[in-house]
Amino acid sequence: MIDNWGRKIEYLRVSITDRCNLRCIYCMPKDGIELIKHDEILTFEELIRIIKSASELGISKIRITGGEPLARKGITQFIRKIKSIKGIEEVSITTNGILLEENIDDLIKAGLDRINVSIDSLNEDIYSKITRSKGLDKVLRGINVALDKGIKKVKINTVIAKEINYSEIMDFAELTEKMPVDVRFIELMPIGEGKKYTQVSNDDIKKIILKKRKLIPFLNSKGSGPATYFRTLSSKGAIGFISPISHEFCNKCNRIRITPEGFLKLCLHWNDGVDLKKVLRSKASDEQLYKIIYNAIKQKPYKHEFKSQNKNSDSRNMSQIGG
Ligand code: GTP
Ligand code: 5AD
Ligand code: SF4
Repeated sequence: MIDNWGRKIEYLRVSITDRCNLRCIYCMPKDGIELIKHDEILTFEELIRIIKSASELGISKIRITGGEPLARKGITQFIRKIKSIKGIEEVSITTNGILLEENIDDLIKAGLDRINVSIDSLNEDIYSKITRSKGLDKVLRGINVALDKGIKKVKINTVIAKEINYSEIMDFAELTEKMPVDVRFIELMPIGEGKKYTQVSNDDIKKIILKKRKLIPFLNSKGSGPATYFRTLSSKGAIGFISPISHEFCNKCNRIRITPEGFLKLCLHWNDGVDLKKVLRSKASDEQLYKIIYNAIKQKPYKHEFKSQNKNSDSRNMSQIGG
């Protein structure tokens, strides 16, 4: 459907859990966060009702996020159900990849189309510092297995922060010449723990890559998100840039989000939205649910204002929102 700003809203990000098996320093405090109680998290049946309603409103792409989505039991049956909903063309996940290798067969059988994997360092020591955990080799194995078994597209999401992994920019760019994966540089947003680190502009990242490589615009990389893509002369995959701070893309925003506790979140930055759990658990009819989602989408905020936060800004961490 079209929102009040003329944008086509066709993409729903569904965060199925706030739990995560890593503790990335810009995403979660060291001791974790207060977790949502189990009975406050939407069941898969409730989520399917929302997705059905959203699909009738024109949502055709679903991305499952977390926390870590593979940490929730039953995700493969959930994917299978989503794939059977009329109007849904694509189901993808954003994962840290730790549990990918052991789940890949089931995910493929369930019909998963695409996988985005978050990796912020290719160096085991730095990876461990960032994630406060271990497992880079496991994640890379998971990606290779996914590609071998026929997942059409694997993208790596990398957030660069000045004090953490600035020195690895070229290593990530070169990874697209070694492996058939896209690497996307995501500008650090001042969300939750992310506020503690120094954001690096994607223009600066591009300059660093341009010292060593030609970057050729590439329009063909499969995706529904805000990234712009380039290739080098010997790329196997593309280099992408997601630049919410330096090149805001809100005028083209196509998405809404559901948080684990069932809040229909209309923009990554703002608290605006509707408590759909309350709606579902008050025995609303399908028609009521449809109307509530329709009215909410109409009210989607025009853009983020990360630079001038106010009381309506979401103050939670990314693990509670799903990115
Ligand atoms: P595809 O392009 O379809 O592969 O997906 P995507 O890039 O939309 O999904 P992914 O979960 O990999 O998103 C990567 C990251 O980009 C997110 O975790 C956010 O950090 C950022 N991002 C995605 N969508 C938005 C958005 O609408 N607004 C802002 N500000 N950032 C976003
Ligand atoms: N800014 C930008 N991206 C972030 N992510 C988590 N926190 C932030 C932040 N503050 C990214 C993760 C992952 C995705 C779900 O969101 O790296 O790729
Ligand atoms: Fe859309 Fe909000 Fe992201 Fe802008 S910040 S692109 S409006 S979700």
